[in-house]
Amino acid sequence: MSDDRRLLSQFVSTTIPAQDVATDILLVPVFHGERQFADFGDLDGVVGGEWTRALASREFSHRTYECLFVRVVNPGWKAARLCLVGAGERADLDAERLRRLAAAGSHAARQRGAASIAWLMREGMDVEAASVVADGLSAAEFDSGSYKSGDRPASFPATVTIVATGARDATLASAVHRGRVIGESVNFTRALANEPGNVLTPREFATRVSSEASGVGLGVDVIDETRLRDLGMRLLLSVAQGSAEPPRLMVIRHEPADAPASPVLALVGKGVTFDSGGISIKPADGMERMKDDMAGGAAVAGALRALALLKAPVRVIGIIPTVENMPGGRATRPGDVVIGASGTSVEIINTDAEGRLILADALWYAQQLGATHMIDVATLTGACLVALGRTVSGLFGKPVPWVEAVRAAAARAGDRVWHMPIYEEAKEQLRSEIADLTNTGGRPGGACTAAAFLREFSGDRPWAHLDIAGTAWAETRHPYQPKGATGVAVRTLIELGMTGGRLQSQ
Ligand code: BES
Ligand code: MN
Ligand code: ZN
Repeated sequence: MSDDRRLLSQFVSTTIPAQDVATDILLVPVFHGERQFADFGDLDGVVGGEWTRALASREFSHRTYECLFVRVVNPGWKAARLCLVGAGERADLDAERLRRLAAAGSHAARQRGAASIAWLMREGMDVEAASVVADGLSAAEFDSGSYKSGDRPASFPATVTIVATGARDATLASAVHRGRVIGESVNFTRALANEPGNVLTPREFATRVSSEASGVGLGVDVIDETRLRDLGMRLLLSVAQGSAEPPRLMVIRHEPADAPASPVLALVGKGVTFDSGGISIKPADGMERMKDDMAGGAAVAGALRALALLKAPVRVIGIIPTVENMPGGRATRPGDVVIGASGTSVEIINTDAEGRLILADALWYAQQLGATHMIDVATLTGACLVALGRTVSGLFGKPVPWVEAVRAAAARAGDRVWHMPIYEEAKEQLRSEIADLTNTGGRPGGACTAAAFLREFSGDRPWAHLDIAGTAWAETRHPYQPKGATGVAVRTLIELGMTGGRLQSQ
């Protein structure tokens, strides 16, 4: 899909009045119950009475994300058509809603083959909101990665304009640029997570991430199995050894010359390109979903791409351990004991609890590389999906101020997270007769015991963990999002990196 890159839309902004914007489709959010538009003028006159007619006939009923396309008849207006986008209650408009509205409007416009689109910022939407809109409008560029023969994806609008009449040009342009970079980076992550396991092997994952990362000026080091052995990362290797595909560990560095020596933020992402469960094999039903078990790693790669392009003011290291978890004659057996790079021994009771094993060595390596603050992102446990559902990610960590900093970043970024506990009893569930730890703690509190396991590898550093098992994949289609990879956590990681200067005090 990399061929599509040159076809992507060009994003621009303007501060001129709406009627002067020459575009194929002008997207206008309309709030629930709104009939008149003080900031917008005589809508009915612009569209020859179509607005009143559509309301009367209930063709448009103000449902959120509903789109009504109407032709412009007023020659004083330069747009060819308007698309009125149901925006829900004005009081409920937050960043997440606005981003989804922009995404829904752009999906609908793209389906109609619009050559160019524009989005009108309504009164009361500040310039910062333009960043959220640019992010949302980028979503429609995403193709779910179809391999259907003869399928040609619809083309994108050549230009996407964000209209904020009367705003300051420079402020608007920089907000739009920021949102655009974020939206593209989320799409990069989603495209990776959607790829099937036979296409995106650990080596291919590393190749694609390296080429994107070096393209935006990041330093990249891909560690192969020989070096992994030298580094003593036996927990990671124990997961990979059942597969014909060799493992990799990607290290991506954002090191701006003028950044202070500290903090050093480490973003660690689980990169299991396919999780069959290994010898503790999963049931056949739904196993195909396990091709997205590298969504955390893809989120880290997408976030670093954005942090480089946005010139984040702090040092950030991305660490992505990537393996395929397969059964086979060389695979790890339940009951095997493996000593990780940190020296901690683990009795592997269940080979399907593999994410925590590769993350354990990756967290150790983050500390070797000088991380002062760590966060990992992982499709780690079915238990987290059961506990929090498909819209909220589990947040764990220590100490409380660091977890709070991550929670606040997620809230600003529009990712829903919920702080979950790790009490001492969770660690007691990981007691082994013959090793320092077992890798599973049984069914009760499965998301918490997995987090307790990871904490044992976080040393004395601030560490947070996002369990995205429930949120990385959308099982249903929405007007603003197709089925498939969601790109969850990318925006949170970007927000953390951009505000990284404040980490010092945590
Ligand atoms: N990748 C899975 C977790 C998962 C489950 C992600 C469902 C997305 C949807 C993980 O490696 C796993 O298999 N976890 C086990 C842990 C258990 C063996 C302790 C689980 O959740 O069942
Ligand atoms: Mn597993
Ligand atoms: Zn897994």
